[in-house]
Amino acid sequence: MYLGIDLGTSSMKCLLLGEEQEILLSVISEDIPLSTPQNGWSEQDPSFWIKALDQCIKQIVLKFDLSQIKAVSFSGHMHGATCIDKNYKVIRPCILWNDTRSFKQCSQIMADETVMDIAGNIAMPGFTSPKILWMKEHESENFKSIAKVLLPKDYLRFYLTGEFFSDLSDAAGTYWLDVKNRTWSNKLLDIGSMDISQMPKTCEGTDQTGVIKKDIAEKYGFNNSCKVFGGAGDNAAAAVGLGLYQEGNASLSLGTSGVIFGSTKNFLKNYDDAIHSFCHCLPETWHLMSVMLSCTSNVNWFINNFNSSIDEINKVLSSVLNNFSEINRYPYYLPYLTGERTPINDPHIRASFHEMSIDTNRDTLIYSLIEGISFGLYDNYSSLVKTGIKLDNIFVIGGGSRNDSWIQILASLMERDLSITDASDTMAAFGAARIAFLGYNNLKPREALSLPKVKKIIGKNEIQRDILKDRFLRWKSFYLGKNV
Ligand code: XUL
Repeated sequence: MYLGIDLGTSSMKCLLLGEEQEILLSVISEDIPLSTPQNGWSEQDPSFWIKALDQCIKQIVLKFDLSQIKAVSFSGHMHGATCIDKNYKVIRPCILWNDTRSFKQCSQIMADETVMDIAGNIAMPGFTSPKILWMKEHESENFKSIAKVLLPKDYLRFYLTGEFFSDLSDAAGTYWLDVKNRTWSNKLLDIGSMDISQMPKTCEGTDQTGVIKKDIAEKYGFNNSCKVFGGAGDNAAAAVGLGLYQEGNASLSLGTSGVIFGSTKNFLKNYDDAIHSFCHCLPETWHLMSVMLSCTSNVNWFINNFNSSIDEINKVLSSVLNNFSEINRYPYYLPYLTGERTPINDPHIRASFHEMSIDTNRDTLIYSLIEGISFGLYDNYSSLVKTGIKLDNIFVIGGGSRNDSWIQILASLMERDLSITDASDTMAAFGAARIAFLGYNNLKPREALSLPKVKKIIGKNEIQRDILKDRFLRWKSFYLGKNV
């Protein structure tokens, strides 16, 4: 058996895989608390991650003998700065991927424009390096006591093995990595006021990074030869779960954030549009990714504040699609509840409705909400296409993939087919377990990774496409208008 541990922002999921890569069990922790001490800040206490792991392992023990687990690996939310001191104590709560306080430090880092070619990206406040520079400026005592900076899932690895490692897909999101050459960059570390001794060692996702420590093995009943492998940042792990390692295959994830992920044979980039160019967790493979910070979180915001439901949203959407010519009078929605990364890299922008009129009602607002998120995703897609990446198949995953009308809007905008799969919501945990499987059995991706089954393909609708393309131009002008 192989264990995948997926440290999500709101909970942890763990999944056990058998020798035929069949899912034996999947468990979930209680919610992991998040604190927002100030507007735009987002922090988490790493002790809650250990607690979540404990909750998951205790559920697994009820059904399976942990001593039968041969290997463990991880997926985790990326970019978080988990700083520990020389006594291995956590210095302050981890500053997370969706924290936007370090905007100023990003400009500082990019004062030398050559850094973008090394990092393959513009510096964005989500990344780790600007967070540490913020600490240097605002919490100098904390900054001085940093012995190591670990990414969130790598802190769990340290807890389980006592080893300091980070896989390259996650390390690429720090802004300290030379992404093309897959190694820490002295220049980026220097600019970020960090020293190589404060970094974990880098590894490929499928490399072994130690075994479960004796005390942990005894506490839970793991075999003390249970091997621990590198793992991946959550998007790369989900890609392994989907079998995405060859150029041409990509995913569109409609979750809290909206991510389009495509594997690449070589290192490609488009940092003008804030496309993320990172190492994949598999050797000699990279990936490109667009990140929309708020995707289904807009839907949840509406549901929670206006006493709505997924059912209501689905019904409204399919009735609007039946009377599509009416939408010219509908309002517009900018989906930027928490700022945006691709393509505008603007942490300060916030969401807004536009052109509401006397006709505007609950149904038209619901339509605009979904249309606005779709426009944001189309904006992401167009930026990705500019890199020249091949996107032959796009598999749609995440909560939003259950709404055919929504996928229809996206397919019409992107003017292409989108594939709906039978993939589950535990894709990142599944990917992490698959990484353990690949690593332990020393397999190449092509020997063990298959693509998910396609349940249906949704293609463009030409009438919708023409109307939506006109509305997209108007939608775009609301953001541009604000920022000229
Ligand atoms: C990727 C990113 C998010 C987080 C949380 O750059 O910030 O996908 O990893 O899921």
